[in-house]
Amino acid sequence: MSIPEIPAVSLSALCKTYPHSEDPVEVLKGVELELAEGDTAAVLGPSGSGKSTLLALLGGLDRPTSGQISLLGEDLVRMSEPGLASFRARNLGIVFQQFHLMSHMTALENVALPLEIARDPRAWEKARKGLSDVGLSHRENHVPAELSGGESQRVAIARALVAEPRILLADEPSGNLDVHTGRQVMELLFRLVRERRATLLLVTHNPEFSAQCGRRFNLEDGRLGNA
Ligand SMILES: Nc1ncnc2c1ncn2[C@@H]1O[C@H](COP(=O)(O)OP(=O)(O)OP(=O)(O)O)[C@@H](O)[C@H]1O
Ligand SMILES: [Mg+2]
Repeated sequence: MSIPEIPAVSLSALCKTYPHSEDPVEVLKGVELELAEGDTAAVLGPSGSGKSTLLALLGGLDRPTSGQISLLGEDLVRMSEPGLASFRARNLGIVFQQFHLMSHMTALENVALPLEIARDPRAWEKARKGLSDVGLSHRENHVPAELSGGESQRVAIARALVAEPRILLADEPSGNLDVHTGRQVMELLFRLVRERRATLLLVTHNPEFSAQCGRRFNLEDGRLGNA
């Protein structure tokens, strides 16, 4: 008898309400999701439906109001803040909708950061390769204020991929890129996922990229349904 595989992502009855004195916003109202290692999933849904909220919960950057989040068999809801930070560094790559690059660090330093945290002796070499993979070798020493929106997006993607995470969470990673560059970085992202059997949760409005995912979901009225 084979041992059942631990799902990469398992969400159950996941709810998130943002408190507000007059008007609390009930964003997620019982999200259910199970992804196996190596699954690729696109999350679609209108603006304000809670896609970024969902990714923030999965990334351990915000806490749910109620419900279960288990990643690679570990319970995120019960983890301490240092535990979450360490889990994130070891297992997650996150591409945020708003980049969240460190403004005082150069592009190269931003990409090297996750490797430095993990004390990887080859941090700088790998960071250089990561920037080169997104076509930005010539911007290594620029800080984010000296980069275009698309360049910042590519730095953010390189940073998310550089430590070869087991789970990749990406919020509109091609949103700020022209068609050609968008295809290039998405190819890179899908290649990593395939080669490393990583699990991808991709928020995208782009039908070309959602079609490349093995599964597609719609976030509507606080719940995930099949798209
Ligand atoms: N910190 C917050 N406090 C209060 N409400 C918030 C907060 N963050 C998000 N919201 C609300 O939660 C809802 C979902 O926001 P979210 O950013 O998750 O949407 P989204 O699906 O990612 O939208 P988009 O496609 O525009 O990026 C929105 O109505 C938003 O106003
Ligand atoms: Mg969003």
